[in-house]
Amino acid sequence: MRHVSPAMSDATTPAPAATAPVSMDNLVALAKRRGFIFQSSEIYGGFNGFFDYGPLGAELKKNIRDCWWADMVQRRDDVVGIETSIIMHPKVWEASGHVAGFSDPLVDCKVSKQRYRADQLFFSPVVVTAADGVAQTVGYVSALESENTAGELQTAAESFKRKKAIQGTLCPVVAKDLTEAREDEIALIPSPATGEPGSLTAPRAFNMMFQTNVGAMTDGSSVAYLRPETAQGMFVDFKNVVDTGRVKLPFGIAQIGKSFRNEITPRNFIFRSREFEQMEMEYFIHEDADWSKVHEEWIAWCEAWLKSIGLPDSHLSRYAHPKEKLAFYSRGTVDIMFKYPFGVQELWGIAARGSYDLTQHANASGKPQEVFDEATKKKFVPHVIEPAVGVDRIFLAVLCAGYAEEAVTDEKGNTETRTVLRLSPRIAPVKVAVLPLLKNKEVLVARAQALYKKLQRRYAVFYDETAAIGRRYRRQDEIGTPWCVTIDFDTIEKPGDTFTLRDRDTMQQRRVTEAELFALLEEQVY
Ligand code: GAP
Repeated sequence: MRHVSPAMSDATTPAPAATAPVSMDNLVALAKRRGFIFQSSEIYGGFNGFFDYGPLGAELKKNIRDCWWADMVQRRDDVVGIETSIIMHPKVWEASGHVAGFSDPLVDCKVSKQRYRADQLFFSPVVVTAADGVAQTVGYVSALESENTAGELQTAAESFKRKKAIQGTLCPVVAKDLTEAREDEIALIPSPATGEPGSLTAPRAFNMMFQTNVGAMTDGSSVAYLRPETAQGMFVDFKNVVDTGRVKLPFGIAQIGKSFRNEITPRNFIFRSREFEQMEMEYFIHEDADWSKVHEEWIAWCEAWLKSIGLPDSHLSRYAHPKEKLAFYSRGTVDIMFKYPFGVQELWGIAARGSYDLTQHANASGKPQEVFDEATKKKFVPHVIEPAVGVDRIFLAVLCAGYAEEAVTDEKGNTETRTVLRLSPRIAPVKVAVLPLLKNKEVLVARAQALYKKLQRRYAVFYDETAAIGRRYRRQDEIGTPWCVTIDFDTIEKPGDTFTLRDRDTMQQRRVTEAELFALLEEQVY
């Protein structure tokens, strides 16, 4: 069989109805199997809240960072980028309020030794109305944060009533988180670990900053912190950038870098970890500017950017923090939420922080953080709008949105399941796979190698000559490669030097020249 067409070796008809809902287990398995994400220190049993990115993961993560940097910094005239140190003067964190207040409410279960965040632990009194209409609390039930907390509590309340053989009508549950529990109630709320009451402690503030010591001494004077956010680097360097960067209000300072938080309950894979990467931008505006307009513009910008890297509109929503829950200095915070398989969760926070941070640093350092207004001839402290997002959360979102298992049927009528990662060409770790149809045909291999080397100068590409062509396509589908190029006998024997270009999503094939292939990449990978 000399002239085997690649089209004949690939399944042809995806059955859309067969796309299964994304399961985190399948996603985690794929991430491990194909070298996207490993547990940190896996050979020692792993280390909770820490992850390693494998060869494809490192590439995908870099592409997310590069796209953000290109769009946020290089393609805008009003944003500059910086890179600040991870360990800063400890006074930075005193001034910012992190030493005193960067804490989560921690609850311990004294029996199981499990720790919970009080705001993620829900409870409800079990209230029963007797025949005479008198309502009475007969016990308490608890549930960990999930998409369906109220439903779980209701089921637990019904089971509680049944087990204790309590008569009367069960009232609907009122789900409250444990930070709202009264002291006398805490003793009665069952621990999710044991199912028994009496072992939960009252919530106490747990500071999430990792401490270290700088220098040879390890006394109180040498204490320093791993930064819990990149943002303070931008505030502390504000004057340096203004004095050296030829920037004028309104303008932004952006940074990408690692942040560290000793999360009480790291979970949902890389969603909440203890070492993660942030992409933050502080957009400084005039104190009299219409901050809500600028805030809205940045929310819209962030949404459009997420779509530009392939996140579907259907998975995105907004959550405006209620006024009474805002930090005292915050004027408004809107989170862009993403529909993860474990629920709708925060992806990107866009906060209007007023002049709080610069004022704090001015007061603590004694160095004014003001700019001069030519119009009014007055100095003032700029206000700031801050879009802050985690690279790892975007990484997880693109995996969740892109992952599909679908039934495909080949021309012989055989149906199989193909796993495909529909990643945007902008961020896909491999842009093109170059495949000679047969590995023992020197002429095909030579042409494929020449194309591969040429593509490699500009793009992350993959060369594969092993296995049947259909299997090679499947491997690329699974890692999200948008296109495969097959060098076949038509390439060599027919005029035009064309290749078969196979599209990952449609599995359609067409013939293209080298110039057309480069033009496609130029347009789609930006
Ligand atoms: N400077 C503001 C700030 O850091 P944040 O809401 O605490 O705000 C911003 O964090 C973003 O960083 C979040 O929206 C999320 O994407 C990411 N992030 C925060 N904590 C994280 C964690 N433990 N693991 C992974 N990503 C995290």
